[in-house]
Amino acid sequence: SRLTVLISGSGTNLQAIINACSSQLLPNTSIVRVVSNRKTAYGLKRAENAGIPTTYHNLLEYKKRFREAQDTAPRPVDAVDEADTVARNAYDADLATLVLADKPDLVVCAGWMHIFTNSFLAPLVSANLPAINIHPALPKEFDGANAIARAYAAFQEGRIKRTGAMIHYVVRDVDRGEPIVVQEVEMKEGDTVESLEERIHVVEHELIVKGTGMALARLWEKRDVDKEKDEEAN
Ligand code: GRF
Repeated sequence: SRLTVLISGSGTNLQAIINACSSQLLPNTSIVRVVSNRKTAYGLKRAENAGIPTTYHNLLEYKKRFREAQDTAPRPVDAVDEADTVARNAYDADLATLVLADKPDLVVCAGWMHIFTNSFLAPLVSANLPAINIHPALPKEFDGANAIARAYAAFQEGRIKRTGAMIHYVVRDVDRGEPIVVQEVEMKEGDTVESLEERIHVVEHELIVKGTGMALARLWEKRDVDKEKDEEAN
């Protein structure tokens, strides 16, 4: 199977996938491209070290291009938001084109810190290309960024006793897609946010491989079913 992995940071989840491909924990699977929205993401170095093609997809370039267009035509102050919306959609549309060109079987968001518009999601749906995401919280608990810190604060206030991590399908609603695999992580008295984060990251590195394997298995199963249907139909 062919994977495209999207990152924004250190890439330890990417590294877990790279290792799983080499060890055949993910059988007959390779990463065809790593895309980052941050130029300095160490995950790009990990990909290069593994001989994987990389792309830095730069949102600032799009914002500048559309901001200049907006600046030439004097518009009300809220037009800045419109320029950003136009920039984000153009960025996402180009990202979808870039991803689809490699014909991957699955897109894996591994620490990808960018909220998608439909300009990215719709072309993938049309191409039957699923995307999955790793999120360091339990379903419907701490959606969005800084999930671990927010869970830790809730633990301090005695509101929760455990948190977790999950792999889920990417949909428009941030971190709300159908979970594929979920793992609870206990929270202990004396935990610091760092010790909790460390325990969650260990779980994430297992889940990212398990979740990718499960998503690929479902994909191949669906393709076999579709093929049988086609054969019956013809
Ligand atoms: C992970 O905790 C991921 O869940 C979150 O950001 C972190 C990325 O870590 N979105 P890395 O870049 O894979 O090391």
